[in-house]
Amino acid sequence: MLEDAEIKSNECLCGDYRKVDFNAPGVSSPAQPGQFAHVRIPQMRDRILRRPFSICNVSEGGMLSIVYKVVGEGTRILSEMKPGEVCNLMGPQGRPFSLPKANEVPVIIAGGYGSAATYLLARRSPQAGILLLGARTSQDIILAGEYTECGFDVRLSTEDGSSGKKGMVTDLLEEVVKEGIKGVRFYACGPHGMLMAVATKLIGAGHEDAEMSLDHLMCCGVGACFACVVKVKDDNPDGWRYARTCSEGPVFSAGDIYC
Ligand SMILES: Cc1cc2nc3c(=O)[nH]c(=O)nc-3n(C[C@H](O)[C@H](O)[C@H](O)COP(=O)(O)OP(=O)(O)OC[C@H]3O[C@@H](n4cnc5c(N)ncnc54)[C@H](O)[C@@H]3O)c2cc1C
Ligand code: FES
Repeated sequence: MLEDAEIKSNECLCGDYRKVDFNAPGVSSPAQPGQFAHVRIPQMRDRILRRPFSICNVSEGGMLSIVYKVVGEGTRILSEMKPGEVCNLMGPQGRPFSLPKANEVPVIIAGGYGSAATYLLARRSPQAGILLLGARTSQDIILAGEYTECGFDVRLSTEDGSSGKKGMVTDLLEEVVKEGIKGVRFYACGPHGMLMAVATKLIGAGHEDAEMSLDHLMCCGVGACFACVVKVKDDNPDGWRYARTCSEGPVFSAGDIYC
């Protein structure tokens, strides 16, 4: 679905993170947790490619929220856009997270903008669980309060110790795995290095079914150009094949990722 979406608000959350709310009933109503919107940001002159952003939240009134970090030209231009201006959205794109079953306890591991990519999952989960949120400093922690409002037990780690436990989010994960909670279901989204460390730990603990959202540079966003491939396990003699994160992902089972 392609939709011209008017910006309703575009505000700073903290540090370089911002939240933009679009009026986008066509893209928001079928959206599922983990899917993304491929956004055409106007005024990018020669840089015509859309930019992918996870759908953080949707409302029944057709609002679609994205939380984004300003990292380059597209996100800088987006950060300067005002309510009333319009971006073209394509979506919802990609394979979503599967919702936990009623008797499963979701444990979400997030770093960077990962907590935005998994927020709709937390909202739609039949029961609250645990959020393990890792950041470099307290300035990089986003949406912790929103998860608490959903009933989640939010556990923080920062690399500099400015908030929560000093260290990496994988330290928090080890503690949860040791707790041996029954019926636990793991989900993760964050920077590539973090995700690979999380996948290794979860596979080692027998949680191959953990679902991970892989962030990869994208071009077309619809499976046509193969710019976004990652290696996944396969039955062929090499033991792996390329999968397109935009159409076969971005959500993959930890056990399917070829590390
Ligand atoms: C499925 C998916 C969901 C995403 N969801 C979000 C989200 O919810 N919030 C958010 O802030 N970002 C998200 N991203 C990343 C976002 O798409 C990029 O940050 C954005 O495209 C950068 O555009 P730009 O023009 O500002 O930067 P550019 O000028 O294109 O690049 C600036 C710098 O950012 C790096 N970069 C660009 N794209 C990515 C990427 N995909 N991963 C890592 N580094 C990148 C470039 O290598 C370069 O160093 C997502 C990416 C994918 C694939
Ligand atoms: S971005 Fe073109 S195939 Fe995925």
